[in-house]
Amino acid sequence: MAALRLGYRSVVLEKSAECPAAATAECLVGDWNSADDLFRLAERVDVLTLENEFVDAAHLAKLEAAGHKLWPTSRSIALVQDKLIQKQTLLDAGIPVPGMRGIADLAELESAVEELGLPLVLKARRNGYDGKGNATIRTSKEIASAWQQLRGDQGNALYVEEFCPFVSELAVVITRGLDGATVVYPLVETVQKDHVCNIVRAPAMVAEDIAAQAKQIALGAIEAVGAVGTFAVEMFLRNDGGIVVNELAPRVHNSGHYTIEACACSQFENHVRAVLGLPLGSSHMVAPHAVMVNLLGKYQGTGTALGLDRALAVAGANLHLYGKTTTSAGRKMGHVTALGKTSEEAERAAVACAEAISFQPVSNHDA
Ligand SMILES: Nc1ncnc2c1ncn2[C@@H]1O[C@H](COP(=O)(O)OP(=O)(O)O)[C@@H](O)[C@H]1O
Ligand SMILES: [Mg+2]
Repeated sequence: MAALRLGYRSVVLEKSAECPAAATAECLVGDWNSADDLFRLAERVDVLTLENEFVDAAHLAKLEAAGHKLWPTSRSIALVQDKLIQKQTLLDAGIPVPGMRGIADLAELESAVEELGLPLVLKARRNGYDGKGNATIRTSKEIASAWQQLRGDQGNALYVEEFCPFVSELAVVITRGLDGATVVYPLVETVQKDHVCNIVRAPAMVAEDIAAQAKQIALGAIEAVGAVGTFAVEMFLRNDGGIVVNELAPRVHNSGHYTIEACACSQFENHVRAVLGLPLGSSHMVAPHAVMVNLLGKYQGTGTALGLDRALAVAGANLHLYGKTTTSAGRKMGHVTALGKTSEEAERAAVACAEAISFQPVSNHDA
């Protein structure tokens, strides 16, 4: 949508012609795991970009070698898409991260528990999102079940990291241009429910020195992976006052959706500008506060939204429905952003609108 508004046409590679992006872009049906399909896409466009970190970096490198322009680069994606390599890269660059180590088998997991103590978080090195690649181990009884849950027994590459007791989770979205110029969006607070982002509050209400420190850490993190385009840096504000990076996203991010209404130039438009080599826009907030609430699916159902009359009656709430054709528990179906003089005012409107929306369940008859 941001590219279209600037007069550009987009082509997306997606598994189904019914994908939400088909409403604004031409949809090439295919599989991003297939190098052939990636080349089919590349041949259609002047510049390639990504909106997830799951496309294999080795395939992306082949596109670059064939002369296709890709931002962010395959090298950046290689450094981010494997969470263990990502954390090692950050550590090497002097960025604070939780203690972690790779785990090759169950015996190694058991000895990691011995040495590091509990709780620990076992994570899939690749393809995790919305907490789906994570299992928290709180007691030694949970070691084997966590290993199985994340398919360690089937060869899925895993690592463990220290559990970080935190006061809050913070995030910074940054766009970095082809020339290295950066635009930093305000530090936000994110609230996760069952490991899925539920609420984002902008700006985060933390002391100035914390916000300044978080910004410096986030800038260092995206420099360390050679970012081009919009990236997000998720952080923990630990109970002891320290900040550590949880993870990077090499793409536009849920913690930046509020920028559509709340900032002079959104994370999406700045991403488009960055990958096209255009000047970046301002990240300045146009209201004192903004709150974004995700619309998460609660059960299996169709993508048809119910409750629009009540939701749209909430003054100041901006409803975004993504047009996904099915819903399921925890699936991101849309979001609501509200602006306000205070964070409470914005949150009241965003929550009231979000709570009015539900998605049509699949009836017992259909199931
Ligand atoms: N080391 C950790 N300590 C405490 N909580 C964690 C840790 N790692 C992840 N979490 C919790 O799980 C959420 C999702 O984890 P994350 O690694 O960001 O995975 P995803 O890629 O699914 O977003 C985090 O936002 C946080 O709430
Ligand atoms: Mg995350």
